[in-house]
Amino acid sequence: MSIKRVAIIGCGIGRSHIVEGYLPHPDKFEVAVLCDLNEARLAEVADEFGIIGRTTSFAEVLADDSIDIVDICTPPGIHLEQVVAALQAGKHVICEKPLTGSLSGVDEIMRVEKTARGVLMPIFQYRYGDGVEKAKRIIEAGIAGKPYVGSVETFWLRTPAYYAVPWRGKWATELGGVLVTHALHLHDMLLHLMGPAKRVFGRVATRVNDIEVEDCASASLQMENGAFVSLSCTLGSQQEISRLRLHFENVTFESNHEAYSPGKDPWTILAANDEVQRRIDAVIGDWQPVAPRFTTQMAHFHAHLEGKGPLPVSTEDARRALELVTAIYQSSDSGQDIALPVGPDSPKYADWRARTR
Ligand SMILES: NC(=O)c1ccc[n+]([C@@H]2O[C@H](COP(=O)([O-])OP(=O)(O)OC[C@H]3O[C@@H](n4cnc5c(N)ncnc54)[C@H](O)[C@@H]3O)[C@@H](O)[C@H]2O)c1
Repeated sequence: MSIKRVAIIGCGIGRSHIVEGYLPHPDKFEVAVLCDLNEARLAEVADEFGIIGRTTSFAEVLADDSIDIVDICTPPGIHLEQVVAALQAGKHVICEKPLTGSLSGVDEIMRVEKTARGVLMPIFQYRYGDGVEKAKRIIEAGIAGKPYVGSVETFWLRTPAYYAVPWRGKWATELGGVLVTHALHLHDMLLHLMGPAKRVFGRVATRVNDIEVEDCASASLQMENGAFVSLSCTLGSQQEISRLRLHFENVTFESNHEAYSPGKDPWTILAANDEVQRRIDAVIGDWQPVAPRFTTQMAHFHAHLEGKGPLPVSTEDARRALELVTAIYQSSDSGQDIALPVGPDSPKYADWRARTR
């Protein structure tokens, strides 16, 4: 097994990637370089973890042949250009959410991926943890039965202090609001467990903070599997919770309510009867605990690069989550129920701010 040399670009959430994603795996990763335009922050985080390689130049990172993985943790507005440049430089790439701010941007990345030597993994760390992974295994084993309805709630709190960081709250740099930056995690978790949406009706508004982008949203989904799901998110909740509840014929699942780690145990997993419970026990009875969030996502990425497993999160997954965002914006603007897939003929394919009728 080879140790991959990582360069992290951006020392905000990048610091959490170090703590949760790389330090737990010294046999898999070495954080060799930190890159940030903010020299004080760069020095602080590099000193904290004893990282010798430090630079303010992204180009310098790309030119460094000793770097295997470029981990992009910069503000959303520059993800597209940095992902494309890193892939074109032959690197493996990890990119924080949102991968980018339009479906046309994702499709451009997919075109670059076709000829790239490296592999791109978008971040969706909420998929990892005992609770969500048990639910996934039960559903994939065919035990849950017919899907009925679900609800997905992202009730977080963001105050003016959060928006003091200049890139936040603006279309040009954050690329969107609660749908794009915050609830995207839970919405990906839904799609991960339930599969794609088929029709979407949504409403968005800016009600909590004095910002450009939306901070409240609600949507009604019909999934391809026939289930109805309601999404509800705000950045004005005085108690921060994330909650996903899915009702199937044989099993009801409810996540824990921890805002930033709803994938962890305990999940409520209620079987319709003893026979269903026996089937559940048969598939998760020998459960080996998995670490939540970045710890497991990064471990799976390393395994994939070693040829020992699938890519844990793909650009296709990021596209599916951003397609849902696009459909909600389009529905909110037009008052229409939007049919998926959303393609280049959509008015919002290239730009979420383009007005729709
Ligand atoms: N997965 C999660 O749970 C999670 C949590 C927080 C943030 N994020 C995402 O991570 C990204 C960064 O968010 P953040 O909260 O860490 O932001 P932040 O502003 O705290 O940190 C971003 C850092 O990037 C640096 N930077 C900006 N442009 C740069 C460039 N061209 N080259 C090098 N460094 C540059 C900035 O100086 C800053 O230190 C966003 O896309 C955000 O949505 C994800």
